[in-house]
Amino acid sequence: MEFRQHVSLAPFTTFEIGGPARWFAEAATEADVEAAVDFAAERKLRLFVLGGGSNLLVSDAGFDGLVLRIALRGVQVDGAVLSAAAGEDWDALVARSVDAGLGGLECLSGIPGTVGGTPVQNVGAYGQEVSRTICTVRAFDRTSGKWVDLSNADCGFAYRRSRFNQGADRDRFIVSRVTYALGQNAPAAVTYADLKHYFKNRGAAEPCLQQVRAAVLEIRLGKGMVVSPQNPERRSAGSFFKNPVVASSELPRIAAAVDVPEAEVPRYPAGTAAVKLPAAWLLERAGFIKGYRLGAAAVSSRHTLALTNQGGATASDIAALRDAIQARVRQLFGISLEPEPVWVA
Ligand code: EPU
Repeated sequence: MEFRQHVSLAPFTTFEIGGPARWFAEAATEADVEAAVDFAAERKLRLFVLGGGSNLLVSDAGFDGLVLRIALRGVQVDGAVLSAAAGEDWDALVARSVDAGLGGLECLSGIPGTVGGTPVQNVGAYGQEVSRTICTVRAFDRTSGKWVDLSNADCGFAYRRSRFNQGADRDRFIVSRVTYALGQNAPAAVTYADLKHYFKNRGAAEPCLQQVRAAVLEIRLGKGMVVSPQNPERRSAGSFFKNPVVASSELPRIAAAVDVPEAEVPRYPAGTAAVKLPAAWLLERAGFIKGYRLGAAAVSSRHTLALTNQGGATASDIAALRDAIQARVRQLFGISLEPEPVWVA
């Protein structure tokens, strides 16, 4: 394994933003992962684990440690159990599961990134979350120096959260392989409003896995959420903020802040006496409408929750737009929006 110096990180991120890594290496095997951990320890370097770079904002100064890109490959299918190395492309894996007639991942089509990132942020979309299908996560435990197989319960999954990205064990584990228990001949999941609407309009009562995958890809394309060269809004990290959960008793105040009837505030149930609000709605009501621009950073013209690099934007440009949005939403609604992408500095 080669340890390179001063490698620009921008090409490794979907934002296409970021300064250099002081050190950079790619792990193709579990032995490489261990070697990289040793390399960093010997030189007292911080270690950052890079997957598909689709949920990151790398600072303009870059990262003054070792960036380890996970390039482990290999997929195994055993009945309805799908096991993939962390460096595998996520959408290719979803396509493979759908082709094999295995249900459980079809709504997660078209999400940029790699397999290893999915348990870390508990990737979810259109009514599915990987926490519902993951059975084990194999990872290197930097505390014990051993490889471990974590069960679903060990992962501490919640909305966009896991043991891997929060709390005391944040950054403790380096994921090498994820195993998903899927449903053989399982009916496709059509629970999310956008999807229901899509199929209702087309008169498809019980769409198959392929049809749901195609629908999700089409919906995502319409929202500029597909990373393709043809998409002018592709330079982003998907949703930039998490959807905040607030007490239901806050709803009258939130509605009054923008002078709308309470019933018009969109919300989803989130446990007892709490609701999840679409951050996109809060942004729009706070004046950050589609196409809103601050320098080379902008709110996507296709989906309000995606902040985009319009070409030549720096991390500071994105951060300035982030700060302006957070300040205004806090002032107007009293809600602190939490960024979703990981900030690398
Ligand atoms: N909305 C707007 N303006 C918009 C878009 C949405 O006001 O431009 C409001 C509407 O009220 C709409 C609601 O937001 O009904 C929900 O919109 P959408 O279905 O597009 O979902 P989202 O809450 O904006 C979440 C995830 C996405 C995921 C979609 C679909 C988070 C932070 N984001 O977005 O995940 O693809 O649902 O399930 O939970 C990501 O995490 O990077 C990501 C793209």
